[in-house]
Amino acid sequence: MNDSIDQKRPSGSAAVTKAVVPAAGLGTRFLPATKATPKEMLPIVDKPAIQYVVEEAVAADLQDVLMITGRSKRSIEDHFDRAYELEEALEAKGDDARLRSVRESSDLAQVHYVRQGEPRGLGHAVLCAEAHVGDNPFAVLLGDDLIESADLLRRMIEVRERHGGSVVALMEVEPEQVSLYGCAGIEPTDEDDVVTVTDLVEKPAPEQAPSRWAIIGRYVCDPEVFPVLHETPPGRGGEIQLTDALRELAKRDPEDGGTVHGVLFRGSRYDTGNKADYIRTVVDFACRRPDLAEELLPWLRGFVDRAQRS
Ligand code: UTP
Repeated sequence: MNDSIDQKRPSGSAAVTKAVVPAAGLGTRFLPATKATPKEMLPIVDKPAIQYVVEEAVAADLQDVLMITGRSKRSIEDHFDRAYELEEALEAKGDDARLRSVRESSDLAQVHYVRQGEPRGLGHAVLCAEAHVGDNPFAVLLGDDLIESADLLRRMIEVRERHGGSVVALMEVEPEQVSLYGCAGIEPTDEDDVVTVTDLVEKPAPEQAPSRWAIIGRYVCDPEVFPVLHETPPGRGGEIQLTDALRELAKRDPEDGGTVHGVLFRGSRYDTGNKADYIRTVVDFACRRPDLAEELLPWLRGFVDRAQRS
């Protein structure tokens, strides 16, 4: 363990070592594709979305990953498990590159699973992690939310190490989009990219939003969130909302697990559970790939020209 970080850490609080990846939602926005396939398994070029999320956790030094899964989510477990027959076939052919790519997902992290019997909301999914996480702070990475690098998560963990409490990731959105997100009331701190969160509202009407800073799918939670979630009634959409529990924590004293900070994120983020965003993600990731960009970019330019003329 790093001594300098240990000295900065508030007394009585442990390091963040575990990641929780909720992936038990119904994915109704992506039907019918998600009738039998989890939306988290939809491919972004040649890897399922959830693999990028686990890679991000590992890049932020979180090797212990708990996935919250449910009905029709078996393929997630298979993807992070060994595939002996496939590996043997590739080995026999001497196809080392594909063999490496197949083994990558099973060698990536220590992956654990718990099932959320019924998808009762993100807050309820997080509550399913209680036994695994215990009395430790933990990160939450939504299984269908892609963030361009692990810098955001690392920064959030660092803010938690210094200030304690919980940390949310905030991104500025257009006023007409605030009703799609949880929105935060914020106050500045002496660091440009860190704010104190004074209020949180799940999917507010634009005139009721405390700001245009929206919560995106990365959190670092104090374990005090569990007792609060136990007491949190179903909120918007009849679901138990993580935002409601964090709002309760934001109002508490620091000694009671209170204080919520926000890290302001200004990079690229994609919600792959949304059809248009999914397509944008695939195009963006493909165009950044040296093995595909050369072929794809000229075609894309031509396609855009033709589309503009028609
Ligand atoms: P979403 O709200 O995007 O997921 O939750 P959803 O409910 O599946 O989406 P739609 O609206 O029906 O299309 C964000 C993340 O939280 C997980 C989802 O799997 C997704 O990764 N989640 C959501 C759960 O694990 N359990 C739930 O009860 C709800």
